[in-house]
This record gives sequence, structure tokens and C-alpha cells, in this order.
Amino acid sequence: MSLVAILVTILQLALCSIAIATNSFPDFQLLNVNETLTGTKMFMPLGLSETDDHRGKWNLKLVHRDKLLSPNDSLSTLHNHGRRFHARMQRDVKRVASLLRRLPGKGTHDGDAAYQVNDFGSDVVSGMDQGSGEYFVRIGVGSPPRSQYMVIDSGSDIVWVQCQPCNQCYRQSDPVFDPANSASFSGVSCGSSVCDRIDNSGCNAGRYCRYEVMYGDGSYTKGTLALETLTFGRTVVKNVAIGCGHVNRGMFIGAAGLLGLGGGSMSLVGQLGGQTGGAFSYCLVSRGTDASGSLVFGRGTMPVGATWVPLLRNPRAPSFYYVGLSGLGVGGVRVPISEDVFRLTELGYGGVVMDTGTAVTRLPSSAYNPFRDAFITQTANLPRASKVSIFDTCYNLSGFVSVRVPTVSFYFSGGPVLTLPARNFLIPVDNMGTFCFAFAPSGSGLSIIGNIQQEGIQISFDGANGFVGFGPNVC
Ligand SMILES: *[C@@H]1O[C@H](CO)[C@@H](O)[C@H](O)[C@H]1NC(C)=O
Ligand SMILES: *[C@@H]1O[C@H](CO)[C@@H](O)[C@H](O)[C@H]1NC(C)=O
Ligand SMILES: *[C@@H]1O[C@H](CO)[C@@H](O)[C@H](O)[C@H]1NC(C)=O
Repeated sequence: MSLVAILVTILQLALCSIAIATNSFPDFQLLNVNETLTGTKMFMPLGLSETDDHRGKWNLKLVHRDKLLSPNDSLSTLHNHGRRFHARMQRDVKRVASLLRRLPGKGTHDGDAAYQVNDFGSDVVSGMDQGSGEYFVRIGVGSPPRSQYMVIDSGSDIVWVQCQPCNQCYRQSDPVFDPANSASFSGVSCGSSVCDRIDNSGCNAGRYCRYEVMYGDGSYTKGTLALETLTFGRTVVKNVAIGCGHVNRGMFIGAAGLLGLGGGSMSLVGQLGGQTGGAFSYCLVSRGTDASGSLVFGRGTMPVGATWVPLLRNPRAPSFYYVGLSGLGVGGVRVPISEDVFRLTELGYGGVVMDTGTAVTRLPSSAYNPFRDAFITQTANLPRASKVSIFDTCYNLSGFVSVRVPTVSFYFSGGPVLTLPARNFLIPVDNMGTFCFAFAPSGSGLSIIGNIQQEGIQISFDGANGFVGFGPNVC
């Protein structure tokens, strides 16, 4: 069988299983309005102990921040889907701005990694009042392991936790990690090869390797690099290079730090290397279900029958996972958009990034406008509502039990097609029945595939072979 034939077969299997699982037909599918709205009204925050429940080797429960109780949340906020949604969109605008600042192109110095050390102290728009991080896992740090919440980030590379002595720490849910109480903590010296792999390394007191990371939204962490034992579920990993952050700013919603899952060598995935074959897989679940998602490391998680798409590298931004997108479809028909709109240029401009930290998929206007127009044309029968937040295409579906909507698909370079479940592109923005087409213009040449579009699809990164897989099962 030729490669094309294999891909076509894989594709058919993938489409078929997604279709079965979401009650869809190739060109149209049903959005269950009643069920979705019931989901927005139901809110069950998780307690700390529930997030500690591990499913086994390398398998962590992945929780959306809206599921975690923050000390300031009143019950009325929790049950107000509209308020939570607006807060999420405000964070999202800042996340996208911070990504754009870290990439070559408009708004940054032509490619010279604008978020590096020189930019310290020049916080532009701060994302901090909203807090950074959308998805969280709980891992053990040190020996004996202390459980800590970590934000996961597919767009950055360093793993770090706030550390004692804390010169400047934001508030976190668990006690701040104290290296003095961990038998496995060992500082990394300036001369070590690990230190060389850090972008903004330096020397502390002429001895310990210093690191600094700035996330572009005003959050940052600075401190010393150390080797430490981390515990994932029941798996203990020794000598992971982590940042021990003594000066941290940002409100990571009670998290102790961040788990960088990016494509660089210092990310957790890069460091695990052989142990997990550079592979990890996640399932994002957040809206309207009691289920939580999962984050699993290792090749054993690579699903059979997924739609596999090659990962692309941008040497100017090695942390980011780029995919080759060639087009978009609505109702089974490809929207006329030039493939060049999605191209990652040799200078590192444009391209399509998969991001866990961005909620809504962003597209350059030259792709977004025709895509949205095609969707509007095929939903002329549905009552419209006025624009909401970053969305210009909204519908008043109050009173409907379910509606028939055109399918929305990503056409990847080389042929694979990913058709999204209806709930991934028409989302409730309040609990009264207003739904919006969940895409937005990026205001730049960059496209970002956001977490709302990734929800419920098992997404697997095979870093060693350079592929990302979608599906086949709704998770
Ligand atoms: C709407 O959903 C709720 C809960 O899922 C169910 O009890 C109710 O019967 C549904 N209403 C209609 C009209 O389908
Ligand atoms: C929580 O409330 C305290 C006291 O009212 C306030 O200082 C703090 O800024 C609030 N935090 C958030 C995240 O709103
Ligand atoms: C949405 O439609 C319902 C009728 O189906 C109507 O009662 C309601 O006022 C509309 N809402 C808005 C915001 O227009």
C-alpha cells in the first residue's frame, strides 16, 4: 500500500470514528444545545485530593483552571458561565499578545527572541491580573515528594517551581518548595553542560547556574538551576533540571510553577528523551463535563488510527510545535484560501502553532474572513445574536434543543483532514443560549490552534519522529 493510500485509510478511519462519536454526518452535524447549556450551568470544582488521584504510570489528571477553586471565587462567580467565559477571553487576548511578542514578525524585533533577558523589567501588557495558565497537573517535587500544582505549557521549555528562600513569590496553594527539605536537590554549576543549554544563563555568586524566563505577559521567574527528582503519578524521575525560582512574578492561579512541554531540549519532554521516546499525549476536557483530562508521557500512549500530521520546526522559536496547515473547510467544502497564508517562512514568520495555553484558534484575517463568511452562509437558517467579546459571529440558540450545523475541518499539508466536533467550534458564551463561532483573527500572520478546538480529541506528540496525532477517539 502506498503512503498516500495508508494516509487515506487512516483518515477514513479517523473521520469515521469521530463521526460516530459525535453523531455527525460528513457535511453537517448536530449540536446538542440543551445538553451544552445544561453543562454550563453545572459546575463541580475539584478538591485538592481529587486532583491527586493518579491513574498509573506516567498518567496524570489534567485539570482546567475553571475546575479549581480559587480562594476568591464566590459561588455566584462559579455558576456564572458568562463571567468565567469573559475572564477566559481576556486572558486569551493576553496570551496571544505574549506569544506574538516571543515570535519573529510584527511587533517584535526581527526575530531576536524578544522575550529574552534584556526585556526584564519592561513588562508591557500584564496578563497577571488574570493569572497565567489554563491547564494544571499535580506532580511531586523532591525527596520525599511534595505535591505541587504545575501549569502545563506546550509553548515553553523550562520546568520550574517557586523556591525557598523566596525573595519574591506569588501566592500558591501548597507550601513553597524548600530545597533544604529535599534529599535529592542538587545545584547545577555554571560550568556544566546543562547550564549551557539554557538561553539566558549566567552565574550566581560565581558558582550556580542562573536562569531567567519571561513569558511575555508580565510573568517571569528567575533563580538557580538544579537537578531534582520529580514524581509523575507512580513514576519517579531523577535528575530533572528544574529552575528553583527565588524571584517570581505572575499569578499562576495557585500553581507552584510551570511544566514546560515545548520542543526544546530543556523542556520536560526534551529531558525525558529516551525514557518516553520524546512522546506525550493529552486530552483536554473542560467545559460542561465532570470528566477531567489526562496528560500521559511515553510512546505507549500513541493511538492507533490517529490522523498523523508532520511537525514543523521554526529555528527562531524552537519551543513551539508548528504544523503544516493547507486549508479550512466548512460543510465539507474547502474554503478558497491561499495555502501561503498558513506557511511558516524561512525567516520564521507566520505558520501554525498548536498551543495548550491559547483558548480560541486564531487565524490571519485573510483566512479568518472567508472561513467565517462560509460558515455564515451555511448557517443562514439560525437566528443571529450580536457580537460577544472577541467573537463577531454569534447565534441566539435559546429555545433550540439541537441545531444542525455545517462541519468545520482543518486540511493539513499532505492530505490529512481533521473534522471537529460541533461543540469545538460553536461554543456557549453565557447560559442563556448565545453561542459563538469560536475562531478569531490573529491580527498577524501567525495562526494558533487553540485549546477549545483541541478539546475532547486525544492529541499526541511524537517528538522523536516529528508527528502530531489527532484522535481517533473522542476522549
Ligand atoms: C434538556 O437536558 C436536560 C438534562 O440533560 C434533560 O433533563 C431535559 O429533558 C432536556 N430537555 C429537552 C427538551 O430535551
Ligand atoms: C483576593 O482577595 C484579596 C483580598 O480581598 C485581594 O487582595 C486579592 O488581590 C484577590 N485576588 C484575586 C485573584 O482577585
Ligand atoms: C433569543 O431568542 C429568544 C426566542 O427564541 C428571545 O426570547 C430572546 O429575547 C432572544 N435573545 C436575544 C438576546 O436576542
